[in-house]
Amino acid sequence: MAQKVTLIPGDGIGPEISAATVEVINASGADIEWEEYEAGLLAVEKYGTPLPEHIIESLKRNKVGLKGPVSTPVGKGFRSVNVELRLAMNFYANVRPLKNMRHIESRYTGIDMVFVRENTEDLYCGIEHMVGKDAAQGIKIITREASERICRFAFELARKEGRKTVLAGHKANILKLSDGLFLECARAVAKEYPDIKFEDKIVDALCVDLVKTPERFDVIVLPNLYGDILSDMGAGLIGGLGVAPGANIGDNGALFEAIHGSAPDIAGQNKANPLAMILSGVEMLRYLGFSEEANKIMQAIDTVLAQKEKLTPDLGGNSGTKEMARYIIEAMG
Ligand code: NAI
Repeated sequence: MAQKVTLIPGDGIGPEISAATVEVINASGADIEWEEYEAGLLAVEKYGTPLPEHIIESLKRNKVGLKGPVSTPVGKGFRSVNVELRLAMNFYANVRPLKNMRHIESRYTGIDMVFVRENTEDLYCGIEHMVGKDAAQGIKIITREASERICRFAFELARKEGRKTVLAGHKANILKLSDGLFLECARAVAKEYPDIKFEDKIVDALCVDLVKTPERFDVIVLPNLYGDILSDMGAGLIGGLGVAPGANIGDNGALFEAIHGSAPDIAGQNKANPLAMILSGVEMLRYLGFSEEANKIMQAIDTVLAQKEKLTPDLGGNSGTKEMARYIIEAMG
């Protein structure tokens, strides 16, 4: 029986890169039946809400989803669909593997690290209020339960992938209670994993080391906001947002999506690089046990990346989104 997957193409460049990704995955031979749903602005127009309940129901049924980027209005309007989805499904771990790829330009070599970002709390709870009319307050929530859970996830991932070190980033010197609690939890969980080395680092110093010697990092676990910022920076180290996949994982399923956003500046122009979303699809195939199909796509990507003219403009080529997907499919033979 085909594996059912919830597909949320998103908006902006989402529909273009989703179509390219679905074509590539279908061509790999993976037996997947897609259940497609609109979210974000498109869903507001149709259903009056950016995240209709039928999407959550579909994800609960299928337990696996693939998602394109969804725009979030800045300063006003609806709350981020991405945040709502992660909370509704309790996808508490945001996993972003970053590895140098052959033929993708980067100032660095030998990068092979995974960012594990807490996905459910911190400043992302979005609890803000005005204090009078000239001051605003945002509340950062860090709990023992979520901190231990994400740190345990990071150590388990390290064990599963044969990785050697987990590093926790924090600002416990200043935020003694909130980040202090995160650090306390990381240290306690580390004791359960004597086979894996544990380090911790203040997040600003971590930024310096990441830029100077990114190749020495392995698994990095971070609270939500630092995880968001540092993993985007990490994507820059391996060649940019266009090549960085991601996944939101919980105990009852996973939703795979690229790190980048909906890129409204190039939407609808057949210019978007589909690679990050295809790579997220490859991570999804591995999660579902379609390893052969995942390897087939990775080999085809490697072949196509060697031919610059077959790539989108951000990768130095002159092909469109659709064409690049077609070249990957052709390379699969
Ligand atoms: P962005 O990642 O959409 O764009 C940043 C820059 O990178 C732009 O110049 C864009 O053209 C370029 N870019 C991004 N992806 C690309 C691709 N696949 N191929 C070629 N170029 C690409 O970030 P921005 O502009 O900050 O956010 C735009 C919207 O996306 C916002 O509404 C934001 O809330 C949303 N967003 C959604 C995310 C999600 O759904 N997971 C994640 C991040 C942002």
